[in-house]
Amino acid sequence: MAAWLAGMTELGPVAWPPAPIRTERLLLRASEPRDRPAFVELLASPEVNTYLGGPRPRADLERELPAVPEQWPGSFVVELDGAMIGHVLLRRPPERQRPAAVGRADLGYLFLPEAWGSGYATEACAAALDWFDRALPGEPTVLFTQSANVASMRLAAKLGFAEVERFEAWGAEQWLGLRSPTP
Ligand SMILES: CC(C)(COP(=O)(O)OP(=O)(O)OC[C@H]1O[C@@H](n2cnc3c(N)ncnc32)[C@H](O)[C@@H]1OP(=O)(O)O)[C@@H](O)C(=O)NCCC(=O)NCCS
Repeated sequence: MAAWLAGMTELGPVAWPPAPIRTERLLLRASEPRDRPAFVELLASPEVNTYLGGPRPRADLERELPAVPEQWPGSFVVELDGAMIGHVLLRRPPERQRPAAVGRADLGYLFLPEAWGSGYATEACAAALDWFDRALPGEPTVLFTQSANVASMRLAAKLGFAEVERFEAWGAEQWLGLRSPTP
């Protein structure tokens, strides 16, 4: 198990890993060695990466992914019946350029195609945002997505993100949303 981290992390002063978070159907937890094959699937899938710059070659992933992929504060593996179905990320990238996003934490999500259309992404992201609201009270979050990514746009709206702006980048229209924290 990863060491207990308390103190300043990229995300802020959060304790990590948290106790696993249970929702009605899912479990959110820090990543573990047994999740590696599902991370390879997520990153190698053309469907998952349609709006994320395209898939990565499976052989490269098999070679390069660390034994415990994406192990950092704010990175949640989403589990259904004991198997990983998705990845929900809350991070504070230092390189953000859009004024409304500078210094803010942003939400990201990737689910395996066989898990789409069942409301799992909504359920998992809501739980991760709830964790964030308790870990760093009073902080808004932002979300970037391509506006052509219809499923992602619907999810952002359901989670309470409101449009800040649309802008062109990487050859496509991007959408930036902002969510106020739940008190
Ligand atoms: C974006 C992504 C996570 C959305 O997944 P999803 O399964 O469509 O998302 P949801 O959890 O909102 O579920 C969708 C549908 O399940 C249906 N559903 C079925 N059972 C449900 C239940 N018990 N509760 C809620 N919804 C349910 C709903 O009809 C919902 O559709 P709606 O938008 O009409 O409400 C997924 O498409 C994905 O992983 N894409 C690839 C990665 C990506 O592009 N990420 C964005 C990066 S910015």
